[in-house]
Amino acid sequence: MPLVVDIHTHVYPPSYLAMLRTRKTVPYIHDPSTQASPRLIILSSDDDPAIPLDQRGRPIDASYSDISTKLSFMKQHGINSSVISLANPWLDFLVPKEAQEWAQRINDDLEFTCAQANHTADPTGTRPLSEKQTLFAFGALPLSAPDPATIVTEIQRLSTLPHMRGVIMGTSGLGTGLDDPRLDPIWAGLQDSPLLLFLHPHYGLPDDAFGADTTNRYGHVLPLALGFPLETTIAVTRMLLAGVFDRFPRLRVLLAHSGGALPFLAGRIESCIRHERKFVANGGQLPGPRRSVWDVLSSNVYLDAVVYGSAGLKAAVAAGGGSDRLLFGRFWEMILLGVEIYILMLIVQFCTGTDHPFFPPLGEEEQEWPSVTTNYKAIHESFDDDRDAMDAVLGGNAVRILDLK
Ligand code: URA
Ligand code: ZN
Repeated sequence: MPLVVDIHTHVYPPSYLAMLRTRKTVPYIHDPSTQASPRLIILSSDDDPAIPLDQRGRPIDASYSDISTKLSFMKQHGINSSVISLANPWLDFLVPKEAQEWAQRINDDLEFTCAQANHTADPTGTRPLSEKQTLFAFGALPLSAPDPATIVTEIQRLSTLPHMRGVIMGTSGLGTGLDDPRLDPIWAGLQDSPLLLFLHPHYGLPDDAFGADTTNRYGHVLPLALGFPLETTIAVTRMLLAGVFDRFPRLRVLLAHSGGALPFLAGRIESCIRHERKFVANGGQLPGPRRSVWDVLSSNVYLDAVVYGSAGLKAAVAAGGGSDRLLFGRFWEMILLGVEIYILMLIVQFCTGTDHPFFPPLGEEEQEWPSVTTNYKAIHESFDDDRDAMDAVLGGNAVRILDLK
């Protein structure tokens, strides 16, 4: 059996849920007066006053916060290790003076949870990863803190915690997006640490991008299926355009949901950049990024395999290849050889994820989660003819990239 590592799996520690229960604006939890499940209202599109409070957002149960439920879920789906992360919207909404304290509380809680679970699974710490259930974590950052130095301090502290392997971050940065030059000390802090940056969407696209009244008519489909991946795509493209990967060439970024549309659109992004060459900003001229999208994709970017279909996985793997090859002559074959080398590099940078506890089964509690089995099926369909690639995607890559022991 291959070792399976879930690098995209969330938790809301009980202290965080208690804090959401004290709030009346997004993000918040509403407890219906009936026996019905509490409602988690975190997306702006969730908070439609036309929808009764008892039906807003989504119902939550123990799987959102209880670690023994997470461990049972792992067992049920053959997952050896999970790298748990606080779910969205993390600490983004906190008033500045509360940010640092909450970051420390949540991160200590995650660290303690991992330590306790791993000790229970292997009190002597001698069993191999493949023979036990283990937890690791991505920490949260106090992004609304008054001074970026506070964020850097937390990054340095996280690097000293034994089970921390990275940080999870949304796309708002310090409030204006990830191309903000004020983030440079944070990129530097991450680059100089062993921590991986897990970039995850939350804000989607403006509600009116989807048309009027669409939450009522279509629920979460448009914001989650399209808004989330496009948000990630735009955020990482803005980092690229602002030269973040030129200034911080060792920054390692794991993109949620297989990078959104980035692998599919990488060629188009690169082409538009090359045609622009100089960026006119506020009447002045800025140089474009020095490194190409392809270079960044193959050396800075890691992708989870949370895309629920082999077409998406294959598109990510085959970006730039395909039948166009037949149209080109010898010179282009050399170029395509380069693309193929990139494709191989991309394969080894995929890791498995589940997005647990979002997208639970709609029926019986004990049944397998279709959201997980659909991803497994896509991985098998995409890599079945290459056992080594499949083992790498299922767990080997995560073990290597995150130094899991
Ligand atoms: N997946 C997440 O991580 N967050 C959501 O809000 C929905 C799906
Ligand atoms: Zn997620």
